[in-house]
Amino acid sequence: HLTGGVDGPLAGKKVVITAGPTFEPLDPVRGLTNRSSGKQGYAIAQKLAREGADVTLISGPVSLPTPIGVTRIDVETAQEMFDAVHAQLPCDVFVGVAAVADWRAKDIAAEKQKKTADNELSVTFVKNPDILESVSKHLDLRPRLVIGFAAETQKLEDYAHAKLASKGCDAIVANNVSEGVFGSAHNQATLVDLDGFTPIAGMTKADIADFLSAYIQKRIA
Ligand code: CTP
Ligand code: CA
Repeated sequence: HLTGGVDGPLAGKKVVITAGPTFEPLDPVRGLTNRSSGKQGYAIAQKLAREGADVTLISGPVSLPTPIGVTRIDVETAQEMFDAVHAQLPCDVFVGVAAVADWRAKDIAAEKQKKTADNELSVTFVKNPDILESVSKHLDLRPRLVIGFAAETQKLEDYAHAKLASKGCDAIVANNVSEGVFGSAHNQATLVDLDGFTPIAGMTKADIADFLSAYIQKRIA
């Protein structure tokens, strides 16, 4: 049974979603990455497409099939993800689900680096651009609704509330990652926006996608 499409509640709305990790190379065979299966972002993309939205999914390296009806753009680094997101603006809704690497190597070696006699290795990292913040604070093309995710191991509500303010987005889905969430079918989450906290604990990633879809429909109706 198919729902949504051109008749769905989100028909005519353009949604851009980031998902998965980013991968920041150190040399041709090594790199820095984050732990992320991509499942939550893909579940949200699938749900919003079923509701009729025009969904573009900007994905780091994951092993997941492209959800039906979703336009997928594959990227590797945070800078590539940043550029791909900005190339999609304007849009109605932006959802940043990706686990973006906060740092990249200052210099990427052109050749595979060999071990040396030294037991220690120092690498200088430089900060990556914050995609969510750049979209939230976009002067000309800010989407009507900008939603971020936050993975925390402690002080979930405090940190999520601080991120809402510092990044300038409209809502943050805060995930408790202290209980083996990565790669599992379940998340534990709370949504924080200017109205306060809405707990969504104990729900599956599909349930969180459903919750977010209803939230988006309410907010941009
Ligand atoms: N994010 C982003 N670009 C970055 C870093 C994060 O778009 N360079 C987005 C993530 O996709 C997520 C949100 O910002 O929606 C929060 O990411 P998180 O890593 O929890 O926050 P940071 O601000 O990076 O703080 P920290 O890692 O220090 O907790
Ligand atoms: Ca981070």
